[in-house]
Amino acid sequence: MRDMTAGHDVKTGAMVVLPDAEAIAQHMAKWLTEQALAKKGGPFVIALSGGSTPRRLYQILASGAYRDRFPWANTQFFFGDERFVPASDPASNYNMVETEMLAHVPVPAANVHPMPTSGDPAQAAAEYQAELEAVYGGTVLEPGRPLFDVVMLGLGDNGHTASLFPRQPVLDERRLWVSTCVPDDAPHTRITLTYPAIHSSRHVVFMLAGAGKREAFAKVRAGDPAEPASHITTEGELIWLMDKAAAGQ
Ligand code: 6PG
Repeated sequence: MRDMTAGHDVKTGAMVVLPDAEAIAQHMAKWLTEQALAKKGGPFVIALSGGSTPRRLYQILASGAYRDRFPWANTQFFFGDERFVPASDPASNYNMVETEMLAHVPVPAANVHPMPTSGDPAQAAAEYQAELEAVYGGTVLEPGRPLFDVVMLGLGDNGHTASLFPRQPVLDERRLWVSTCVPDDAPHTRITLTYPAIHSSRHVVFMLAGAGKREAFAKVRAGDPAEPASHITTEGELIWLMDKAAAGQ
């Protein structure tokens, strides 16, 4: 299934197990800020995850010390996936990130790249890939020159991540960086980064919290090929940032 040489994958990635969801959010805010501040010679490029788990992280980054310290003007904010709904829709990942973080921080509008969610989904995916190519400075992903500094991911209880859902053709996509997906077990048409785009990264960080993630994590950590998240790889480092409940401890 996978035809990419992994720097790290879900089985070899480091596990960082913390007491609870708040500790995960605080740890990620600190780590992400350090990574962004350390980036030299170009923008810090991140793909944000949606869902509920990262909400607290975004609130922390928008508050106090982090708001003043994070290098907003040198960061390019992309999204790992999006529901094909208007930005005003509560189901929109962009809506959540804008509400919890982007509306409260001094990030230049040109540095924020919402996934298009109108018109034809395949056309929207192609437009988003063009935005990524413009920031990357090329149309072919070069090993050793990753597209993203950080890709944030969550994990669904059906083993999906980003919008790479079970039984969907997007799981076989190895050429496009961005594609579409119509899950058969979740609402909304989706736009999503593909495996090759996620692989082109210095860090992939999965954020998991709660006992509800325990079963899916165990399957993915074991490399169960039926779980879409099992096929995530990165050129760089893969980190499982989770609480004890999700880790089964
Ligand atoms: C989405 C997310 C998705 C999410 C997982 C986990 O658009 O729904 O990108 O991949 O990360 O479903 O979601 P929770 O964090 O809500 O458990």
